Amino acid sequence: MVPTWILALYVILTLLAYPVASDWTSTPFNPPSYPLAVRTPYLSAWLPSPGGGVALNQVWPEFWTGATLGWAGFAKVNGVTYSFLGESSVENFTRATQVSAKFTSTRSIFVLTAGPVDLTVTFLSPIEPKDLVKQSLPFSYLAVSAASNDGSSHNVSVYTDITGEWLSTDHTAAINWTTTIGDAITHQSRLKTQKEYTESKNRILQGSVYYSTRNVDGVTYQTGQSTTVRSHFINNGKLANTRDTNYRAINNDWPTFALARSLGKVTKDAPKYAVFSVGHVRDPVIKYIQNNGVTFEGRSYYFWSTYKTTFGAITAFLLDYSAALSRAKSLDNKLRTAAESISSAYADIVALSMRQTLGATELTISGSPGAWNTDDVLMFIKEISSDGNINTVDIIMPTWPALMYLNPKLGEYMLLPLLQYQATNQYPNTWAVHDLGAHYPIANGHDQGLDEKMPIEECGNMINMMLDYTQRTHDTSLVKKYSVRLNQWAKYLVANTLYPVKQLSTVDFDGPLPNQTNLAIKGIIGLQAMSVISKKYLDDTESGNSYSKTAASYLKTWQTHAISSDGTHLTLEYGKQSSDVLAFNLAMDKLLGLNFIPDSVNSMQSAYYKKQLAKYGFPLDSRSTYTSAGILSYCSLSTRKLNNFFLPRMDDVDSNDYFRLGQR
Ligand SMILES: *[C@@H]1O[C@H](CO)[C@@H](O)[C@H](O)[C@H]1NC(C)=O
Ligand SMILES: *[C@@H]1O[C@H](CO)[C@@H](O)[C@H](O)[C@H]1NC(C)=O
Ligand SMILES: *[C@@H]1O[C@H](CO)[C@@H](O)[C@H](O)[C@H]1NC(C)=O
Ligand SMILES: *[C@@H]1O[C@H](CO)[C@@H](O)[C@H](O)[C@H]1NC(C)=O
Repeated sequence: MVPTWILALYVILTLLAYPVASDWTSTPFNPPSYPLAVRTPYLSAWLPSPGGGVALNQVWPEFWTGATLGWAGFAKVNGVTYSFLGESSVENFTRATQVSAKFTSTRSIFVLTAGPVDLTVTFLSPIEPKDLVKQSLPFSYLAVSAASNDGSSHNVSVYTDITGEWLSTDHTAAINWTTTIGDAITHQSRLKTQKEYTESKNRILQGSVYYSTRNVDGVTYQTGQSTTVRSHFINNGKLANTRDTNYRAINNDWPTFALARSLGKVTKDAPKYAVFSVGHVRDPVIKYIQNNGVTFEGRSYYFWSTYKTTFGAITAFLLDYSAALSRAKSLDNKLRTAAESISSAYADIVALSMRQTLGATELTISGSPGAWNTDDVLMFIKEISSDGNINTVDIIMPTWPALMYLNPKLGEYMLLPLLQYQATNQYPNTWAVHDLGAHYPIANGHDQGLDEKMPIEECGNMINMMLDYTQRTHDTSLVKKYSVRLNQWAKYLVANTLYPVKQLSTVDFDGPLPNQTNLAIKGIIGLQAMSVISKKYLDDTESGNSYSKTAASYLKTWQTHAISSDGTHLTLEYGKQSSDVLAFNLAMDKLLGLNFIPDSVNSMQSAYYKKQLAKYGFPLDSRSTYTSAGILSYCSLSTRKLNNFFLPRMDDVDSNDYFRLGQR
């Protein structure tokens, strides 16, 4: 038996080893970063909460890069002002006390006690997979609801603002702004010097930020120095309805765009709320290669096919709040139920990553006002937390299961730019291109063929994703139209995938290796997938038979090289006995319903993962100790359940960067 004092010491040491526990309840767990307004690569606001111990009103929200975003919130309750959002340095307020924090797939919800009133602060970034107009609206909601917590009724008014920091990380940049009053009140702010399609520090130097609320009873507004407008609300419970027209730099007396609403008396049973929206709009959105690079097309947000002005789009967005909230709740529940059929820890990770996944994308159409072409839909994704490439194939791949679950057409819209470009023969290599341009939002291709070289990775990904799309939608047009490319990539795999020469895989941060077990099997599965495409959809039995014959023979040889000599696991590299790997590419076989990989391989790996599990899951491979939850998305939201595939437990992840926008 262990003496009691040793147990006591153990408990104390264990407690010391963990970050200070927060004083609020967190559901389902305290993530290192909460998504707040996350809808596009440039509308990406987060609450950094390292160790899970930071409340909504203890720090400023941040852009995904870590740059500060001024976003302040106060509530005045019976004459006393409480802060609920941000870290303002003005006088005469008390910090509300956070009592709970919760996230779902579409929402982050914080409850804070402000004296006799509880504030429920909901950040809703809609995910609208089947409604392209709504999905393309680059706006997010902030709703603040107040309810009495002591049985009496209380007089409440609510204030929020944003600063020019939403426009640029360079605070010396000159900005100007204007306030428009109609069915909504909107503060529009923009960089004075606009640079189309140009990023600086991952911010776009083009377009405007909009901060808005409906123009209803009790709403007031003000623009001006941050301390001036915040103090005005703190002292008066409302704003002055005045405009500061001294346009200046972001850090020159910090121009601030504020909105407030008096809710009047609130009781316990009849809470009242105010809704604000924040958004970043630019037009055009994407520069897209045309006519073999002779011209470029400026593509616009899909929502322009419905709204004539940004102001109209914002008004509709605000009016839609209640309906958007109920759609969001049903999507949250649907995702939770689907993911929980695998595990509840997995459902938590799915909930935390959904806004992040869609928030790297933008939905576009071609045309011009009055003549939009809604038959020409293309979706773009930025390789965030990385090098900023546009439509990177091995970034689309881990995003893919989410797209297939939400709406398979989105997968088509994302592959089409890659297919259209490669069909022109501008890309000189025989393998599939890695991405459509070195930096978002410019999709200018790689006519010199100098894109990051991942030949087997991307050939396998393209074929596998195209089969998956076709099987789910029964739309054969994609594989038919691009059959020449598919066969070209399959031939590349025939010649190269059994013994891959030294090259990168999607785990490029670990560097290149020859004979990678996990890479080879992606290509081999790709050949099996191509045999299905050929036979089932291209009416080409001869090629189909030839691909499946090659795939079967490669699979046999692969097993002789890839399985460790003691028969316990797959090695990272053929024959390297001491190495191992998280062989996530095997999941593609299940996702596609091929049933090509022998059960013995899957059960061997599952047993090995369980035995070798580290704190945050099974390491990606034996070169390092880190792992990736992005990999989990491979294994998850398909309509086919993955049998026999062990999912590591990931309910205790603490890498701050991880949950920002990296797709890995
Ligand atoms: C804070 O409150 C005190 C006392 O009411 C007042 O004198 C002071 O001006 C207030 N500060 C600001 C910045 O309004
Ligand atoms: C802001 O500056 C731009 C370019 O200098 C100008 O076109 C626009 O009218 C200005 N807006 C306001 C509200 O002054
Ligand atoms: C409620 O609060 C607002 C803002 O602080 C104030 O203007 C209003 O007079 C108050 N109403 C009552 C009935 O106290
Ligand atoms: C790859 O593995 C095969 C089979 O073991 C071996 O013959 C070949 O030399 C390896 N290639 C490299 C580059 O190590």
